[in-house]
Amino acid sequence: MTRRKGIVLAGGSGSRLHPLTLATSKQVMPVYDKPMVFYPISVLMLAGIRELLVISTPEDLPNFRRLLGNGSQFGVEFSYAEQPRPEGLAQAFIIGAEFLRGSPAALVLGDNLFYGHDLTDTLAAANADTDNASIFGYEVADPEAYGVVEFDAEGRAISLEEKPANPKSHFAIPGLYFYPGDVCERAAVLKPSPRGELEITDLNRTYLDSANLRVQKLGRGTAWLDTGTHDSLLEAAEFVRTIQHRQGLRIACLEEIGLEMGFLSEEQFAKSAERLGKSTYGAYLRSVLERRQREKSSK
Ligand code: DAU
Repeated sequence: MTRRKGIVLAGGSGSRLHPLTLATSKQVMPVYDKPMVFYPISVLMLAGIRELLVISTPEDLPNFRRLLGNGSQFGVEFSYAEQPRPEGLAQAFIIGAEFLRGSPAALVLGDNLFYGHDLTDTLAAANADTDNASIFGYEVADPEAYGVVEFDAEGRAISLEEKPANPKSHFAIPGLYFYPGDVCERAAVLKPSPRGELEITDLNRTYLDSANLRVQKLGRGTAWLDTGTHDSLLEAAEFVRTIQHRQGLRIACLEEIGLEMGFLSEEQFAKSAERLGKSTYGAYLRSVLERRQREKSSK
């Protein structure tokens, strides 16, 4: 089986967050103690994906390279590609065609944050199915702001619409998508929408039409957070802070996930922790290793 590769789409102008995003891209801004893009990367790593393409604007891509490097500190491999203009989410599969070379893919938006019980199992199941596309449905109060999926009485998806004025359900489609190896061929023949973008919803509809789209509902025990406005950015940071303080565990700590997933050995992990020096993040990494070694020796 060809291994699934991941794409993190982190472009766009970030104009809704001006002036914060005048000199830097939204996806490297902090969500409490780490850059926003760590959260969506953690989701792909938890799905078991190790080869990742980061797509951003020509101006912002150097920042991502500086932040993420080649990925060895997390036990993954990053490649980079430019999106000159924000011409739609599905364009990721035109820009990323050379990187994917026909392998199954997962796309995550660089500003989407997921957290919750059972999420790892849900991700592993989506990753394991390479014959169908998998997307998700999440109940929100304002579906008109998103892609929306409508279900029939048996829970089967029957329609997909992008930001409908009159939504047929309250289920928004989060920015996380799993596709079979034919995704680039399907993206290549999409036509721009009236707003001039290659729409991810149009790409997903091709899988609905060919009867190989799975839509899984993410329950209310899962948090899917937006970071599109000043308020939602602060709320996401407060959410992360609250959970981390209560548990003493960090969300989207990529070195820890690399260790847990077996992408990093303990020696490699210790080196990654060293790199982060005296920060509380670095201290946390050292404590993760100590706890793990204590647990091993008590067995
Ligand atoms: O967040 C989930 C939603 O994302 C989905 O429910 C919608 O179906 C999907 O169209 C998208 O809607 P948004 O209104 O959030 O899309 P937006 O144009 O804001 O782009 C989402 C992120 O992707 C944003 O951080 C900018 C980045 N982006 C966007 C476009 C259009 C790119 O990097 N390149 C692009 O070409």
